[in-house]
Amino acid sequence: MREVVSRFHRDLPPARLWCYGGSSPGPTIETRSGQGLFIDWPNELPARHFLPIDHSLHGAEASVPEVRGIVHVHGAKAPPESDGYPEDWYLPGKSRTYYYPNRQEPAALWYHDHTMGINRLNIYAGMFGLFLVRDKVEDALNLPSGRFEIPLAICDRSLRQDGQLDYPVSGDPAHPWVPEAFGEVMVVNGKAFPFLDVEARKYRFRVLNAANGRFFRLSLSNGRSFHQIGTDQGLLPAPVELERTMLAPAERADLVVDFSGHVGEKIVLKNDSFDMMQFRVGPAQSPDTSVLPAMLRPVPKMLESSATKTRPLALIERMTLKGESMTMLLNNTPWHAPVTENPALDSTEIWSFINTTDDSHPIHLHLVRFQILDRRNFETFAYQTTGRIQYTGPVVPPAPEESGWKDTVRAHPKMITRIIVRFEGYVGRYVWHCHVLEHEDNEMMRPYDVIPAPAC
Ligand code: C2O
Ligand code: CU
Repeated sequence: MREVVSRFHRDLPPARLWCYGGSSPGPTIETRSGQGLFIDWPNELPARHFLPIDHSLHGAEASVPEVRGIVHVHGAKAPPESDGYPEDWYLPGKSRTYYYPNRQEPAALWYHDHTMGINRLNIYAGMFGLFLVRDKVEDALNLPSGRFEIPLAICDRSLRQDGQLDYPVSGDPAHPWVPEAFGEVMVVNGKAFPFLDVEARKYRFRVLNAANGRFFRLSLSNGRSFHQIGTDQGLLPAPVELERTMLAPAERADLVVDFSGHVGEKIVLKNDSFDMMQFRVGPAQSPDTSVLPAMLRPVPKMLESSATKTRPLALIERMTLKGESMTMLLNNTPWHAPVTENPALDSTEIWSFINTTDDSHPIHLHLVRFQILDRRNFETFAYQTTGRIQYTGPVVPPAPEESGWKDTVRAHPKMITRIIVRFEGYVGRYVWHCHVLEHEDNEMMRPYDVIPAPAC
């Protein structure tokens, strides 16, 4: 973890960034399924933070050191002591060696900071990178690879006139926290509005939404479709042809885009009507021998009947008297309250997110992968006053491009979103939280325990 300077654009002065290695995003780590990996994560950050800390947030009090770091590999099935628990932060000059067994299917994971109370600032400063897991089964599919497989870490940032990062603050100097941070500059792999020279052939893009709070709805300027072949935790059963795909913070999409037949064109990757980046299509240098297979990898559907427990979990927003957002809570419970979610190892549960707020919250569970069961509108006022659930709409199944293994799910406003999850791998303490980083840093995060399986 260190400070570097880097330009977001050739016409801007160099900006101060915090990152892993020498760049933001940090190096893309490539691993094989089942091949364990040790990583040292030395904290070599400077002594002072350069973004506005809110000392009124839990875990970021004035008595706590300003500059702290702890890394989490998002989507990794890692033992608890290597998972990057938010309170396990350490200071500049210190390091941690973490072990990643990688006993999981191929997927585009990502690593990022997870420090209690300043997570949103450290990630905004640039502390994230990709972590790809591969295996023989995926190799055999012959998807576009090598220089035709490209990670795209997308986010938005606010930049000052002098090219430096700007992080928004509220009007209240004692409580600078804001409920959402959006920037006007679209950044892909650390560059503002970049271009990429591509050949007229198929490419595989491993897209990550690394933004603090922005949801991206991606499409191509020529209106052409593309194929989504994977989601957070790996390949879909079969490619899904789409004209747009949605990514909430922390979600990933594995896309195959075919540029053949477009030589000489400039195709823009868009977020709704905003430009993200440009592809400049040149002739193919060699024949395209990669394939887009009809079938990718089976995703056995998890049956509701396999769940031994259903947990209703309310997502709640508290307002000030002036109607400003004060904090968002999971199950109306702050971070420091005793653990309430304690699934047994190797048990399957349904987690039912009852979203009473007006926002979509991307909910992430550490350690596990899950499937989305469904979403359904409900009467929020009746729920808030009586605790009773009254459905007001039909059961909505997940979209085809969400129907694979996930680790982050969009819990839509005024809907109940249900996931089914098996708690596999390790016993110990993990966390679950909203991945809008401003929410996560202000109490929308809870510890959970995987407890030993009961003896039979
Ligand atoms: Cu992307 Cu708790 O993590
Ligand atoms: Cu949220």
